[in-house]
Amino acid sequence: MRERARAKINLFLHLGERRSDGYHELESLVAFAGIGDELSFAPSDALSLAMDGPFAPSLQNESGNLVLKAAQALAANAGISPNAKIALTKNLPVASGIGGGSADAAAALRGLCRLWKLSPLRDALDEIALSLGSDVPVCLQSKSAWMTGRGEHVAPISLPRISMVLVNPGVAVSTAGVFAKLQSRSGTGHPKPDDIASATDLAAYLKTTANDLEAPACEIAPVIEEALTALLNTGALLARLSGSGATCFGLYERDADAERAANTIAKTRKGWWARSTFIP
Ligand code: C5P
Repeated sequence: MRERARAKINLFLHLGERRSDGYHELESLVAFAGIGDELSFAPSDALSLAMDGPFAPSLQNESGNLVLKAAQALAANAGISPNAKIALTKNLPVASGIGGGSADAAAALRGLCRLWKLSPLRDALDEIALSLGSDVPVCLQSKSAWMTGRGEHVAPISLPRISMVLVNPGVAVSTAGVFAKLQSRSGTGHPKPDDIASATDLAAYLKTTANDLEAPACEIAPVIEEALTALLNTGALLARLSGSGATCFGLYERDADAERAANTIAKTRKGWWARSTFIP
């Protein structure tokens, strides 16, 4: 039994007030990439998690723990023992603003519902997801969405297939650390996009928006600006940070443009991760 944990991209991310619970109100257009981590689930008489893949070594318990926490939270809700043999192939860079741990946790919830033959109410599953992290509810759907609240309100939005490059300049940044340096907030209430038919349309719409976390993330890790410049130099229609970074995305008119861009960046920047993919 397999589930893919697709990379989550915040095409824009606007923040509002800091709430009394410490989280910020946010508004984000979220999309998912054609690439992601892979999880598999098998019956067992205990709960275990094995990890492999290029980024497994850099996974200091964090993301792994979220998969195990997801299993425990789902089992507790159903009143059963969390017994499963889970394997995670970690293809995505860790602590990098593209969902990593959140997408893995969401994939674990989906996979374990199938393995354990559970069909919790949508609200109950969403609540478990939110208890694991603000991005887990949107990752549960793993479809383009307009996300608001702390991350718990997820409304589907339709986007055409768009060519994209993801670049991580090899640094891990802490989400809480980036939030702590936040200075200007765009606020919520931005108009939703309509009639997006191409990468050019999407880029034009996104130019009316921002990622409020980009400036504080660049302050913490200036190499992010180099990643954004590298994307623009390869002809990206738009280049921006996803989430709290350090992964940046670039949008391209054609797959061939994205493939060429990813190859150029991978070849010229040692230690960077660059992949050509698409918004399905
Ligand atoms: O929910 P999650 O654990 O992913 O959040 C990580 C950190 O990001 C929080 O501790 C908080 O500092 C910040 N955050 C926020 N407002 C949100 C989501 C996350 O301030 N809506």
